Amino acid sequence: NWTMSDFIDMQLAEIKQTVGDKKVLLGLSGGVDSSVVAVLLHQAIGDQLTAVFVDHGLLRKDEAQQVLDSLQGKFGVNIVAVDASDRFLGKLAGVTDPETKRKIIGKEFIEVFSDEARKLDGVDFLAQGTLYTDVIESGTDTAQTIKSHHNVGGLPEDLHFKLIEPLNKLFKDEVRKLGEELGMPHELVWRQPFPGPGLAIRVLGAVTPAKLTLVRESDAILRAEFAAAGLDETVWQYFTALPGIQSVGVMGDGRTYDEAIVIRAVTSVDGMTAEFAEVPWTVLGKVSARIVNEVPGVNRVLYDITGKPPATIEYE
Ligand code: XMP
Repeated sequence: NWTMSDFIDMQLAEIKQTVGDKKVLLGLSGGVDSSVVAVLLHQAIGDQLTAVFVDHGLLRKDEAQQVLDSLQGKFGVNIVAVDASDRFLGKLAGVTDPETKRKIIGKEFIEVFSDEARKLDGVDFLAQGTLYTDVIESGTDTAQTIKSHHNVGGLPEDLHFKLIEPLNKLFKDEVRKLGEELGMPHELVWRQPFPGPGLAIRVLGAVTPAKLTLVRESDAILRAEFAAAGLDETVWQYFTALPGIQSVGVMGDGRTYDEAIVIRAVTSVDGMTAEFAEVPWTVLGKVSARIVNEVPGVNRVLYDITGKPPATIEYE
């Protein structure tokens, strides 16, 4: 029976012993798992760790900056940030099929990450935020993969690393406790799930910068209002999506023909099944009023009252 601080001491010692004076590379997604690994490894080996943060341009509003401010600014993690938005958006242009979108993003992620990895000399190890549940799901074969949430098979042949997976005996809630024990902020450690392909699967059909803006801005309003109402602590996952329905509206003395935004908010334990969240009408009303007022191009806001099954949580 161990406590979290015993676990940290053991891990720090083990990482130091394994790594010695070599260098470690980490793919930072901005999610909880890779962020906790970054802070843990930084405590163990300092600047022998290089974390590569690939910004695919599909993150939520201000998210990239928040990751950098926190991990680089507050914790001093050595981060190479790559703004690859144009690359990703270029590859996604005109692509409508959800699984094709995912594959393109996964493949591009690996390419950008590999390009950065090749620029670094003398890296022996690749660290990953693999959890115990990931190990069970994929069997015990720790093939060289970047976590499956990026939907990728593995790194190119020329990149050979030994793996370090300090979270592979932990469940998600233990990773969160570990993060808090390491002094990471509550908001970062308890953030809601966010899919690897990001906002690309919340813009239904072809992704464009203008459509991403509608989702990103409306989602920021939703998150702010949920936080103000304390719902961020109880609702498991909440976001907006752009279904691509244009409808007639009225504004001043003119008619509009603009986009609708859907609000998705669910309660769940593990994402396998979900119920729509019973959000107070007052909160939904406020979110709706703010979205139509503050996000040009949106004239209608809908609330999704479907569980999973039969719907999924995401729209693609
Ligand atoms: P669905 O939409 O399948 O989502 O009900 C269940 C949970 O998984 C997340 N999700 C993904 N996460 N890559 C990810 O890393 C993906 O391609 C992906 N698709 C869905 C979703 O946000 C929810 O938490």
